[in-house]
Amino acid sequence: MTHLKHWAARRSHGDINAIEALAEGQSSEEVARRTGLPLASVHGVRSFYGLLERGVVRTCTGTACSFARGWGHPGGAEVRCLGRCYEAPCDSTGRGAPIPVTSLVPEPIVLRGVLGSPPGVSALFALPPHDQILSIVESSGLRGRGGAAFPTAAKWRAAAATPSSVRYVVANGDEGDPGSYVDRLLLERDPLAILAGMNACAAAIGATHGIVYIRGEYPDAVAVMEQAIEVARPHLIAGFEVSIHVGAGSYVCGEETALLHAIAGLRAEPSPKPPYPAECGLDGKPTVVQNVETLSIIPWVLSNRRPPETKAFSLSGAVATPGVVEAAFGTTLRTLIEGAGGGARAGRTLKLALVGGPMGTVVPAHAFDTPLTFSAMPGMGHGGIVVMDDTVSARTLAEHLFEFAAAESCGNCTPCRVGTSQLARAPDRAALERLMDTLELGSLCGFGSGVPRPLRDLLAHFADELFAEVP
Ligand SMILES: Cc1cc2nc3c(=O)[nH]c(=O)nc-3n(C[C@H](O)[C@H](O)[C@H](O)COP(=O)(O)O)c2cc1C
Ligand code: SF4
Repeated sequence: MTHLKHWAARRSHGDINAIEALAEGQSSEEVARRTGLPLASVHGVRSFYGLLERGVVRTCTGTACSFARGWGHPGGAEVRCLGRCYEAPCDSTGRGAPIPVTSLVPEPIVLRGVLGSPPGVSALFALPPHDQILSIVESSGLRGRGGAAFPTAAKWRAAAATPSSVRYVVANGDEGDPGSYVDRLLLERDPLAILAGMNACAAAIGATHGIVYIRGEYPDAVAVMEQAIEVARPHLIAGFEVSIHVGAGSYVCGEETALLHAIAGLRAEPSPKPPYPAECGLDGKPTVVQNVETLSIIPWVLSNRRPPETKAFSLSGAVATPGVVEAAFGTTLRTLIEGAGGGARAGRTLKLALVGGPMGTVVPAHAFDTPLTFSAMPGMGHGGIVVMDDTVSARTLAEHLFEFAAAESCGNCTPCRVGTSQLARAPDRAALERLMDTLELGSLCGFGSGVPRPLRDLLAHFADELFAEVP
């Protein structure tokens, strides 16, 4: 029995979701009684999530906000990233300014519904014969936009081929990478494209239920999506329903097996893979988990039947004009930063860019001509780009990444739980490299194995700075 099946079985004793009940203010004892979970498990759920307490003003400690604030911790309640990096520094009061959006391509694909001329609702939900959907998506070569660049059709095929009367499709709107806010833009400004993508997936694999997982840091996206589901309902294929799950705050929730545990109301701890969710996911049923941006492109793929050769990037940090930018794959980082981003702010020199979030890659300014493709920049991830200038020391950025890793490790496996908390104490390069080797080789999920990536880049390009300040 897999972890997910096991937990689903325990959950089936209760009638409520532990996370939702705790967020409503119920006591752990009451939640344990109603869910059938052991009290210790309910305490575990309560201590895992950062946003169960509602109505609290939280200061953003994402990378762009920390950079804008001059690093350090502001004190009081914190949140990791509010997806408002373009107006850093920010906190959770107010709704924030609208996201600035631009395109470097004449025909935006990802931002079609935001910048271009989107099709009407009926056209958006129009489907080719259901048995052709998989092959159309396959021949488009579409790869997931959530970070791993996995071929989308391969997952759909696996789910369709797994015998089951129940299948799920889940939109991953966790967008945990500080510095990324493309998904927030799509959830708030083009929710119907996401739902149309889920509907196409449901038709291709025979899914009966869709769940849009939206991180709790994006309350406006939840409200917009609720309305969009009402609009979409008459256009969904027969027997397919969609609901929303609101996240309770934890970076690792974005990892697909952790996400499914969160939906089940449990601690969002990743499971070993295989089995993959496409074969054994929510409640042990075949489940396709797909990033929001990936799903939003599906209607375009189905009507244009060619590769979607552009991607949306989130630009923030030390640039003059931050915002979401759609660009062709292969566009250089320099074109994005200097063209769309307006280059450095007055009197400053750009030093580096952190691309793909805290498990992404650090690109020094002399390498800004690197093209943005999955192969040339494997750490590109979801496409969040936080640019930093000469006010930042590599050591300060490393400490920000150390702190992030230690705080967001879910604690499920020893190399990551212990290793991430030791990173900041590494006395020299050799010790840091030993720790990173352990994380890469021994971690259970992509979080622990991904933490060393930007640190190795910092070592490669800024080693002197990195250890200069170690006592
Ligand atoms: C630690 C960790 C965090 C992740 N966070 C996200 C996330 O916030 N959003 C996302 O779409 N994928 C995230 N992923 C990737 C998902 O596990 C999964 O591959 C993705 O949702 C699949 O969708 P795609 O194929 O459309 O990219 C994360 C992976 C790891 C290891
Ligand atoms: S690698 Fe880290 S985040 Fe992933 S399961 Fe292990 S402790 Fe959790």
